[in-house]
Amino acid sequence: MTDRPSFQPTRRIVFHGLGAIGVAAALAGCGGGSSEPAAQEAVAGDELAATSEVPVGGGLILTDQKIVITQPTEGDFKAFTAVCTHEGNTVTSVESGTIECSFHGSSFSAETGEVQGGPAGSALAAVAIDVKDGKVLAA
Ligand code: FES
Repeated sequence: MTDRPSFQPTRRIVFHGLGAIGVAAALAGCGGGSSEPAAQEAVAGDELAATSEVPVGGGLILTDQKIVITQPTEGDFKAFTAVCTHEGNTVTSVESGTIECSFHGSSFSAETGEVQGGPAGSALAAVAIDVKDGKVLAA
């Protein structure tokens, strides 16, 4: 028995490898600056997503947990903080192997989290995950 509340992800945004027109626009109204709510913390063993929810070449942004899960190549899952290193907004899309933050145009590798285009000056930090039985779990 645990005394912590059950982990219930509520907002997920899936981005396929080839475009996510309209979805980024849906996020555009989320405001700017660093006034976004704090991340809902996941603890080891929590199910973050089903592997089937993460498209190859694209990704899944867990807006409540502020985690972006990517699958750069089939069966290879990565996870990073979804908090942009520029001004702290949640990244907005994953397309063609790139995690994008449309607030000011930063982009990051969906494979490594490294900056591909500014103004962000540092990489998205990796988030430890396990992939087991068709599920992506917090590690
Ligand atoms: S917050 Fe400025 S590019 Fe992401």
